[in-house]
Amino acid sequence: MTYLCVPIFVRDASQVRRDIASAAEAGADLVELRIDGFDGDARPLIETSILPVIVTDRAENEGGHGASSDRERVDRVCALSDVAKWIDVEIEAFFRLKEPPIAELESKLILSAHDFKGRPERMYTLVNMLTAGHVSKIVWMARSIRDNIEAFEILQHRRKPTIALCMGEAGLISRVLAKKFGAFLTFASLRDESATAPGQVTIHDMKRLYRWDAINPNTKVYGVVAQPVMHSMSPAIHNAAFERVGHDGVYLPMLVNAGYESFKAFMESFLAFEPLQLSGLSITLPHKENALKYLKEKGAEVEELAERIGAVNTIVIDRDSGRLRLSGQNTDYAAILDSITDKLGITREQLKDYRVAVIGAGGTGRTAVAALAHYGATVVVYNRTFERAEELAKEFNGQSGKVVAARMGKLCDPGAPGLQIYINTTSVGMHPKVDESPLGDDPPKFLSDTVVFDTIYNPMKTKLLQHAEQAGAKTIGGVEMFVRQAAAQFEAWTGKPAPRDLMRQTIEARLQK
Ligand SMILES: NC(=O)c1ccc[n+]([C@@H]2O[C@H](COP(=O)([O-])OP(=O)(O)OC[C@H]3O[C@@H](n4cnc5c(N)ncnc54)[C@H](OP(=O)(O)O)[C@@H]3O)[C@@H](O)[C@H]2O)c1
Repeated sequence: MTYLCVPIFVRDASQVRRDIASAAEAGADLVELRIDGFDGDARPLIETSILPVIVTDRAENEGGHGASSDRERVDRVCALSDVAKWIDVEIEAFFRLKEPPIAELESKLILSAHDFKGRPERMYTLVNMLTAGHVSKIVWMARSIRDNIEAFEILQHRRKPTIALCMGEAGLISRVLAKKFGAFLTFASLRDESATAPGQVTIHDMKRLYRWDAINPNTKVYGVVAQPVMHSMSPAIHNAAFERVGHDGVYLPMLVNAGYESFKAFMESFLAFEPLQLSGLSITLPHKENALKYLKEKGAEVEELAERIGAVNTIVIDRDSGRLRLSGQNTDYAAILDSITDKLGITREQLKDYRVAVIGAGGTGRTAVAALAHYGATVVVYNRTFERAEELAKEFNGQSGKVVAARMGKLCDPGAPGLQIYINTTSVGMHPKVDESPLGDDPPKFLSDTVVFDTIYNPMKTKLLQHAEQAGAKTIGGVEMFVRQAAAQFEAWTGKPAPRDLMRQTIEARLQK
């Protein structure tokens, strides 16, 4: 069993009792009472705790507030060992003491080491030394997401109960997957602001968002690869969908630094470490082009249109045949096309009869242009930087449909060509600048059969969509695209139909918060 432990900084007795009760209610198995910074007597708090207690007086040089000497701090926690389930002592303090409190307390001792700067030097010597306690604990600041693999290896090769965690955003996966690799415990904070280390997730997120109760040694691992990554809604919808269909998987945010070398190093180390069972990835900014390049280098199968767009947003990792097989797709383009064709009740092939304004020439604009041109639509690309619109038009013009570039200022001209579909792929109007619209305050005259599609999903109803609604036009919000691209990923990974309604409700509930 891997315990879920809530750390609590002890300030006063009533706060601690409230926090212990909240931790128990939230599903914690034990609490760590951090008595560094507390002058009072912790004994009655431990005696009355409804959860087993680890008691810790953390030294300043290991991230705590304990300013007294090693002897005083260690004596203090040892004096509470008759009521605490475990006591935590830093290995440095332990070896500095002439008479370490080993013999009589060995069964209660967690020997720990923390490095807030990065991977400790001589890590494996340290890991060996930590086995002098009953439980070994090693925690360090992840230099990159690859450090998590070392934490998992430490857990795999443990000779005693072990805690191995990486701090920081890049280390989040070590906190959640501690259970998969049989760690003694992981920490989860009661609230965001009560975290005792960088990257600690709340117990609520651990249980609900990251499926703590369902994780086991066979759980397959999925994730969204991005930088930044913590804002992503993808873990919420994929984990909710896994839960609904009973798929033994967990989906995590994976922070991978920008640049091809970082992406490649991440892929190589995560794929090589088979016990992780990495089974599928969503790829987003800034790695969609890197994913395509990597898959091509590996000779993997890449969907034709993804290659033409130059971006992969989905990697499927298949190990079932006993051999590692990778493939790449772009589920964004189908999500864009199907959002429009469903709204209009037409087939993709019928798009050839439509004139479409694509606003924006970035990654999403490019995907929309490639997809629409492929099915023969006439596309006008409007972009703030006109040259980018021109380049895009040149690249895709004539492949099947006609693609031309136009200046942004022309978009609202009364004489603008008879456009039937408008797609905003810029970030104009996105939270927090919700009062902006790429068409300004005076949009062109939309007709009742005009389709206005805003790929932005936060807010759900952008200013552009409000204008369109007022004019009686048909509207499509970014949630539609988001759910469709995620559902296609889910189906590619699991082979099961995606619970689309649940995925939609999950993202809408998060956006309404
Ligand atoms: N619903 C979904 O599933 C989904 C998925 C992906 C993306 N999106 C949406 O798509 C949007 C763009 O993402 P992306 O990956 O394509 O970004 P990107 O590659 O960075 O492209 C951004 C585009 O926005 C334009 N732009 C930025 N600020 C502008 C401003 N102040 N005025 C006019 N134009 C401006 C840029 O024009 P320049 O060329 O002049 O810089 C460029 O065309 C995001 O806001 C996101 O909400 C939605």
